[in-house]
Amino acid sequence: MEEIVRVDNLSFCYPDGQQALTDISLTIHQGGTVALVGPNGAGKSTLLLHLNGILRSNGVVKVFGRTVDDKNLKWLRSKVGLVFQNPDDQLFSPTVFDDIAFGPINIGHSETEVRESVTRALDGVGMTGYEQRSPHHLSVGEKKRIAIATVLAMNPEILVIDEPTANLDPGSKWSLIGLLERLPMTKIVASHDLELVQALCQRTIILDQGKVIVDGATEHILADIPLLVAHGLAPPEAD
Ligand SMILES: Nc1ncnc2c1ncn2[C@@H]1O[C@H](COP(=O)(O)OP(=O)(O)OP(=O)(O)O)[C@@H](O)[C@H]1O
Ligand SMILES: [Mg+2]
Repeated sequence: MEEIVRVDNLSFCYPDGQQALTDISLTIHQGGTVALVGPNGAGKSTLLLHLNGILRSNGVVKVFGRTVDDKNLKWLRSKVGLVFQNPDDQLFSPTVFDDIAFGPINIGHSETEVRESVTRALDGVGMTGYEQRSPHHLSVGEKKRIAIATVLAMNPEILVIDEPTANLDPGSKWSLIGLLERLPMTKIVASHDLELVQALCQRTIILDQGKVIVDGATEHILADIPLLVAHGLAPPEAD
């Protein structure tokens, strides 16, 4: 299987001095879905933001063999679609249509292609008919779906999603899990939702205090309750 993401000895400190990642190394191969789990503040979002060059630091991040740098950001973002944890960071246009059309217009697609991409992306997230709504007046769960649609419209080869099911009701959550399952590209998903992890991800990486704690088969990791409890991922079992 082709290695499509490589992270070597990546450490990152926010400008205020907060150390968020320490010496992270991992590789991701083509196909399948990888879960990134860990407690609040573990560094999951910070790591994902490195995968499409929004954050950069010492250490190496390579995508399809190319080191992420200033010169290849446009190329990188056509390959890696990132859905932010907070949809308000992704949605900025007056209408849902404009938000989803933004990416396809930017890469020079024709009006017909743009319309088709918007229709397909909205259908994919179960939001057909929302084209003229204002993204700012949607519920949090609806915003999350539209944020995913903005990324799907670009047909990325790697889909990186931060907390896809946060704020979704159970019906919406399982329909989103079904949607993600049907998408053919490689997926990297940060989540606290172990039901999603179990349903979607063959591999799980636990991150805690900016470090990789364990990286292995999801079925083994989810079966290790003491490990999950130690990293804030499961309630301690009652005595
Ligand atoms: N903009 C920022 N400036 C300073 N520190 C930050 C910033 N964003 C995050 N941090 C800090 O970096 C660390 C990692 O945060 P990050 O958001 O990556 O965690 P996370 O695993 O995604 O958590 P959550 O589960 O709450 O989403 C935390 O200690 C956090 O306080
Ligand atoms: Mg986060």
